[in-house]
This record gives sequence, structure tokens and C-alpha cells, in this order.
Amino acid sequence: MHVEFYEKIWMWAAAALLVLFVGILVLSAVSQAIHPPSHVETIDPQTLSTNADFQPGVALQPDGSATVTVIGEMYDFRPDPIEVPANRPITFRLTSADVMHGFEVVGTNANAMMIPGYVSQFTIVFKKPGEYIIGCNEYCGIMHHNMVGKLIVKQ
Ligand code: CUA
Repeated sequence: MHVEFYEKIWMWAAAALLVLFVGILVLSAVSQAIHPPSHVETIDPQTLSTNADFQPGVALQPDGSATVTVIGEMYDFRPDPIEVPANRPITFRLTSADVMHGFEVVGTNANAMMIPGYVSQFTIVFKKPGEYIIGCNEYCGIMHHNMVGKLIVKQ
């Protein structure tokens, strides 16, 4: 088989690019700890209303942090409003009782999906006290645009 010199160059160049790209991927995954979500927590949406471990509400911890358990259901967030302290780590635990909803605290980077059957969890610190709008950003039905909640961050 005869391979042209230029063909060889391009073959090696293509192989080198693959090695480079995989290298960048591995390097960034290792150095910046970029990885897909590893914490998968499931929950039965059918028995949500009687689940004692997942009651909507704000649980204040002795160190001033808080855990907020929120259920999204056409077309409300429970609890509403949500009241949390400023400058403390707030852990949100979210799920949906029916279809997929969004949970976005407008103007912050608190933004996660509420997925029936799963618990979405993230922790955030709100530095600025005030009232924030919580919006559902997943189309969830005819009244999706009315699915709005309120977050009150207290000093
Ligand atoms: Cu809930 Cu859109």
C-alpha cells in the first residue's frame, strides 16, 4: 500500500489532536475535579405526602446553617415563602411530586431541576439579604408561568 507523504502528516496530525483533546479532558477532570453528579438519591413520588424524612420546611441547624426541603407540585413550591439566614450555608433538598419542575432563585446561581423520583441537593450562601423570586424554569404544564415562589434572606 502506497501512502503519500502529506497523507501521513495529516494522519499523524489527527492522531496527535485526539491525544491532545483526551489529555486536556483528563487533566481538567483531575485538576478541577470536574465530574458528573455522583450522589444519586431516589425517592418515591407516590408516597411523598406521607414521607416523614422529606417534609417541606426549613430546618435551622445549631451552627446557623439551614437545610431547606422543597417539594415542587403543579404549580407551587412548598414551603412558600422560604425564609433563610444570610451568610450561612443553605442546603436545598428538592424533589417533585408530579412532573419535572425547575427551581431557580432569580439573580443567584441557585438553580436545579426538581425531578420526580430523585432528590436534587446543593448548598449555597446568600450574601445579600432581601426577597428573591423563585421561578420554575422547566415547562411543566398550562400554568407553568404562574409557578413562582418567594425566598426571604434575613440578616
Ligand atoms: Cu413548574 Cu414550570
